[in-house]
Amino acid sequence: MTNLSDRANAAAEELRVIFDFFQTYRKDVVDEDVVADLTFGNPHEMPLPELVETLKTHIEPKRVDWFAYKTSEEEPRKAVAAALGKELNLPFAPEDIAMTQGAFGAIALAFTLLMDPGDECILPVPGWFCYTTILRAQNSVPVTVPLLDDSFNLDIDAIERAITPRTRIVVVNSPHNPTGVVYSREHLTELAAMLERKSAEFGRPIFILSDEPYRRIRFDGVPFTSPAEVYPYTLIDYSYGKILLAPGLRFGYLAICPNMPGEFRAELSQLAVSTQVAQGWGFPDAPMQYAVADLEKLSIDIDALQAKRNRMHDALTQWGYNMTKPAGTFYLWGKAPGGDAVSFTQALAKHGVYVMPGTLLDRPADFRICLTANEGMIEACLPFFEEFAE
Ligand SMILES: Cc1ncc(COP(=O)(O)O)c(C=O)c1O
Repeated sequence: MTNLSDRANAAAEELRVIFDFFQTYRKDVVDEDVVADLTFGNPHEMPLPELVETLKTHIEPKRVDWFAYKTSEEEPRKAVAAALGKELNLPFAPEDIAMTQGAFGAIALAFTLLMDPGDECILPVPGWFCYTTILRAQNSVPVTVPLLDDSFNLDIDAIERAITPRTRIVVVNSPHNPTGVVYSREHLTELAAMLERKSAEFGRPIFILSDEPYRRIRFDGVPFTSPAEVYPYTLIDYSYGKILLAPGLRFGYLAICPNMPGEFRAELSQLAVSTQVAQGWGFPDAPMQYAVADLEKLSIDIDALQAKRNRMHDALTQWGYNMTKPAGTFYLWGKAPGGDAVSFTQALAKHGVYVMPGTLLDRPADFRICLTANEGMIEACLPFFEEFAE
């Protein structure tokens, strides 16, 4: 490994715990032995028929340049600007939108646009496990700040203490993976006020990267506020992989907050294309771009997801588990009985029930259930959760 670049090794180090998990946890498991796979946000049912129809329609060439090189194309940018503008009540222009390969691509794009080697990015813990890898691959520095213990709100005082002159970005992920918390407008306004004060102190803006791939996956009518609505120096990343439950279709965008002062807004828009070229032509495939206006109308069944959330949450709570009831996302987060996530998840795995130990998210006493499992899997696994309750 040492023959290769330091940053490739540093990126790999951040993922080591995940790769180790993959290599050991499901080693030698054959599909027939899996009772329920509740580990990752992957589909366990056939895709939405409307999604398949849309893809078929847009893969069929209608002009000679159908499969020519594409950057961020005009039509999808217009469609996204209109839809997002309506959703967040902000006047996005097509130039504010960069089409990307999912939220992953948008996050990598934002990091490269805003950060030089040695610059710092503040991240929530627990939180998604790939921010640090993407940062390390470009020699930027992750700075983790734990969320508040009970509410899983951002610890705004702790974020303030973690800010240095090298801080360029604070990542806000709402609805939050893995806790399912959706941050209130008041809470985000408080964060914005602190960031405005710190930006003024250092004489340059600290940006929010609002990681919103679960924005439309919310329960019980919980309202959503994007940080972009309360803080002008915000970039939004989005993925269609969650709402369509098709993460293998790499498709999403990075959106610049239209309230951002003009010189920053214009420069970000201008540099996005060259940065994506530099990131290996990081634009979505042509058919995905043609499909965007149609894909915008599609969604997995959120009511069915909410029913699975209720079923799992209520059953586990009844057996004494300490679970957080998620307001959004497709995850259920809770305390592992006995306080050791690895032994708990291994005990379940012996019975073909797979969940994620919090060890992967820097929280070794907790575990995560992914509700994208189908209803049959959920019913079949419940007796094992009952068996291992404290
Ligand atoms: C919080 C968060 N951000 C970003 C991503 C990346 O999304 P995608 O793979 O759709 O690009 C994920 C995927 O799990 C996620 O949970």
